[in-house]
Amino acid sequence: MSNSITIFDTTLRDGEQAPGASMTVPEKVRIAKKLADLNVDVIEAGFPISSPTQTAAVARIASEVDGPVTCALARTKEDDIDAAGEALEGGTDTRLHTFIATSDIHIEAKFDTLGDTMAEKRQAIIERAVRAIEQALTYTNDVEFSAEDAGRTDRGFLREIVQAAAEAGATTINIPDTTGYCAPSGYADLLASVIDGLPAPDAVTLSTHCHDDLGLATANTLAGVRAGARQVECTINGIGERAGNAALEEIVMALTVRADQFDVKPAIHTEYLTPTSQLVSAATGFPVQPNKAIVGDNAFSHEAGIHQHGVLKERTTYEIMSAEDVGQEAEQIRLGRHSGRHGLFNRLEALGYEVPASHHGEIYQRFLDLADRKKEVFEEDLEQMMEDFGAEAVKASTGLPDDGAGPNGDAPAYRLDHLSVQITTDEDPQVSVRIQRDDGSVREENATGEGPVEAVYRAIDHAVDQPHTLVDFALQAISEGADAQGEVEVHVRYGENEFVGHARDTDVVRASADAYVDALNRLAAARANAESVEFVQNGIMHAYGE
Ligand code: KIV
Ligand code: ZN
Repeated sequence: MSNSITIFDTTLRDGEQAPGASMTVPEKVRIAKKLADLNVDVIEAGFPISSPTQTAAVARIASEVDGPVTCALARTKEDDIDAAGEALEGGTDTRLHTFIATSDIHIEAKFDTLGDTMAEKRQAIIERAVRAIEQALTYTNDVEFSAEDAGRTDRGFLREIVQAAAEAGATTINIPDTTGYCAPSGYADLLASVIDGLPAPDAVTLSTHCHDDLGLATANTLAGVRAGARQVECTINGIGERAGNAALEEIVMALTVRADQFDVKPAIHTEYLTPTSQLVSAATGFPVQPNKAIVGDNAFSHEAGIHQHGVLKERTTYEIMSAEDVGQEAEQIRLGRHSGRHGLFNRLEALGYEVPASHHGEIYQRFLDLADRKKEVFEEDLEQMMEDFGAEAVKASTGLPDDGAGPNGDAPAYRLDHLSVQITTDEDPQVSVRIQRDDGSVREENATGEGPVEAVYRAIDHAVDQPHTLVDFALQAISEGADAQGEVEVHVRYGENEFVGHARDTDVVRASADAYVDALNRLAAARANAESVEFVQNGIMHAYGE
């Protein structure tokens, strides 16, 4: 039978102590409400003595957020305890958390006035802790005591102060590895030794609080749970002082997925983990690294062909939990240069393409060419790729020339043979183009312009000798990312008639040039077939005449 475990979230207190992570009071209230949706047991909302905003955040969360216990932090000083107690006054379920440093390093550095010898100082620290707990109990009967830097504290002294705190009435006793110094086995031993020193261990809840300086915060926390801790202190995304705190999402999912290893069961609504992570990231401005366990963008993504094949056949081959369970999107097959045919054709099928097996080889090759140019291939890229492929397939099956024929099946009047663009910070862009005409002649032209597209269009104008007016130019990204494909649509006018050219490329200057040449070819084809009265272009009927 599983025991319960208290999930104590300190994103708004220790998490906010991460350099640069400060949050406004409304942001904190919003996050606290999300933590309540997540069903955490305790929200440490702030350190009231430290600033009026901390006080306001604690007061608002205590009175506005239903569900979790609201906790406020205080040193063992009288004013601190009063500030925390008063900030909590509007709440119904509240906890006061008081702490004092207990390691020799901290005692030597911080407590000159507490005595001459280490023994005197330790005695004074125990007395201060006991006084603070008694004062805290006048505000709430839920009082937590932390022995700061317990990870580096003398074991005998730690057991002594923990016993004194329990006798004074602390209901939760926290054993922080403040500097992230412990290794899992050592931290577990520390917890076991503290529990062993308590006359009535069941009367208090022992808590972990691990920092991540050696990247061991989650491992240490889990070791502490196995040693008997029944509360874990943690933050969303693991934010916090220096390298941060143990990450809530990692602890909760480790306890859930590896329930066989632990005799406790968190009551967290795990489907809120990713939305909560995103909210904290937005409020603090700290991006979540893509490979962050549980909530990172890549945590459930598969790019390598072997993995995609496995996951598509049987999700559990490469996933130990399901994405939906932690609020991520299911089955994230990411297409890139490592992807295999399975991943590609599965996605094309989902997009509604029925690709005959005879075309698989060529389509896969086109996909690889595209993936070589783009870090990730998105659905819009695939749609464009299939559109290009479909057009050529039709040409092949109808016996039309497939070497860049014009809109009416004629050889195009102009072909862009070469384009070079030189951009420097202190001169206008320099462009050169080479256009091959259908009569076999070649024209090379250079031009400059205010921007590269203007320069390219000027050079093309010189090379084609085709009267027309440019009436519209539109460029839009049709896939995601800095290496997205750009689609360009260009309208040129000749007499009464307008001709539209399109092109797409990851290089938008190249797409702009191709779209312009496309429009000019359409214009040239229309002039060459002047006896026609209309033709269909891009599904639009264009009438023209000379
Ligand atoms: O890391 C730490 O020791 C703390 C205490 C205030 C609990 O954050
Ligand atoms: Zn801490």
